Amino acid sequence: MPARGGAPSIVRMPGEILVTREIPAVGVDLLASAGLSFDVNPHDRPMTREELIQAVVGRRGVISLVHDRIDGALLDAAGSELRIIANMAVGYDNIDLAAAAERKVFITNTPDVLTETTADLAFALILATARRVVEGDRLVRGGRWAGWGPLEMLGGDVHGATLGILGAGRIGSAVARRAGGFGMTVLYSDPLASAEMERLGGRRVELDRLLAESDFLSIHVSLSEATHHLIGARELARMKPTACLVNTARGPVIDEAALVEALRRGRPGCAGLDVYEREPSLATGLTDLDNVVLLPHLGSASEATRGSMARLAAENVIAALAGNRPPNLVHPNIRGKA
Ligand code: GLV
Repeated sequence: MPARGGAPSIVRMPGEILVTREIPAVGVDLLASAGLSFDVNPHDRPMTREELIQAVVGRRGVISLVHDRIDGALLDAAGSELRIIANMAVGYDNIDLAAAAERKVFITNTPDVLTETTADLAFALILATARRVVEGDRLVRGGRWAGWGPLEMLGGDVHGATLGILGAGRIGSAVARRAGGFGMTVLYSDPLASAEMERLGGRRVELDRLLAESDFLSIHVSLSEATHHLIGARELARMKPTACLVNTARGPVIDEAALVEALRRGRPGCAGLDVYEREPSLATGLTDLDNVVLLPHLGSASEATRGSMARLAAENVIAALAGNRPPNLVHPNIRGKA
């Protein structure tokens, strides 16, 4: 509100750092204890494109999240003082790396700290889909359960089954470790052989074989041009009718409309999804299916892990603004600004 009586109004200077959504306190506390000023999006929702473009102006650093599109136009709106975009996520497909490199802006992510938590969730989806956990909950909660039945809600076994892992990185390997406890056979598909997967007894196979032999197929590739719609109608048709497809990586790796069609036809038999092509929208028909378990992008969502991610994002910002190379650069060849 303008000040009355001619007194100059107090205009708060924007902070050096924009945090695009409220994050665990440990992150912003760390920024404050490093003497950095910041502003946090006051709304409990992603900033709109217009809000983001306005809010980045003049910032030296940004802590961004998976729902923020960071491209050349946004970096230009921020201006020449911008040193770093610290994405509080392991994935960074929301960021145009070439545009950032051109403008000498550091891009960092939060690897490692969320590996085990995300693998836990992939396994939760494997168990939930196989044993019809959510469907069972709906039955009981809906008052439709008539008591124990010898043929009621029979599912598939997880123990002893074949687990296919698409993408043998950190999270894929952590899922394979869990599979050991369930006596599963592990197959994996990746352009590169993984020493960790081999150590865990995993066998590397071509994608078509992975599709044909897996009882559970868990996706752990990052999103890129090469992996966009890697799983489409042709690939889904190669899966067993009893198989379950699980995705905790990125939605666009699967052609979601093709998946709805495939699930309707019963091949694969079920799916557990944490991520979607156009979050938070879902492909038409997905919610009508009983053979899917749908989660709201919860892969890293444990208290401890989100705290670690916030801490890491803040540490990267602090390093960059102190004139150092941040520890979690996703494009290590970038020089940054003097
Ligand atoms: C979440 O999706 C992440 O990439 O960390």
